[in-house]
Amino acid sequence: MRQVIAGNWKMNGKFSDITPFAAAVLEADLGADLIICPPFPLLQGFAAALPGAHGAIGGQDCHANGSGAHTGDVSAALLAEAGAKYVILGHSERRADHGETNADVAAKVLAALSAGLIPIVCVGETESERDAGEAEHVVRTQLTHSLPSSFAGLVAYEPVWAIGTGRTPSEADVTAMHARIRAVLVAQFPASGASTPILYGGSFKPGNAASLLSLPEVGGALVGGASLNAADFLAIAASAPRG
Ligand code: 13P
Repeated sequence: MRQVIAGNWKMNGKFSDITPFAAAVLEADLGADLIICPPFPLLQGFAAALPGAHGAIGGQDCHANGSGAHTGDVSAALLAEAGAKYVILGHSERRADHGETNADVAAKVLAALSAGLIPIVCVGETESERDAGEAEHVVRTQLTHSLPSSFAGLVAYEPVWAIGTGRTPSEADVTAMHARIRAVLVAQFPASGASTPILYGGSFKPGNAASLLSLPEVGGALVGGASLNAADFLAIAASAPRG
């Protein structure tokens, strides 16, 4: 199975970035599937600039409702109409900045699925939770409560303390957590849990990508800061083992 390398641009980027970024992606010959998740206003431009074979587009959030009086929010259907195929849900920055609960995330996952989007659901413990020995429990709880019974999509393990810090868990810790996530997914979804891709995210760089992407049960990357630079993002993607 080809690995998935997703770039989460967060609240970064501008219209003038689309053309050069897309040109670099179009030139690359990659053995991985690329997803670019820019801020909402850039979605349509990216979708137009990147034919599907070269990279898919994703949103960074959606509302659980299809429409209505929700100032500042965006529906899953509108993301799909703008050209998105994926949507990141439950990112720790959404959970922290907007108080999103696991139940909120589960409702958004259902909305995404019914609009035809593929959700990328993020889980991960904070540093104090890890220090307290609660990382596994936290991630298990997030998975069991953020994924609805009809879940079909991807999961991203992003330890909060590794995001934007330059710190990554040890290879042994990533391997152990991905194995636990796989076990939870298999128990929760007997038909699909064994094949659900589990991405790792948190301080991915070209220099650490090959080792992180080669770990068991790591099905790809969710890249933040390094995805803003096309050369770095594509170098990470080029590090994915060719499946
Ligand atoms: P960084 O790659 O900047 O650590 O961010 C990871 C992330 O939050 C991706 O969703």
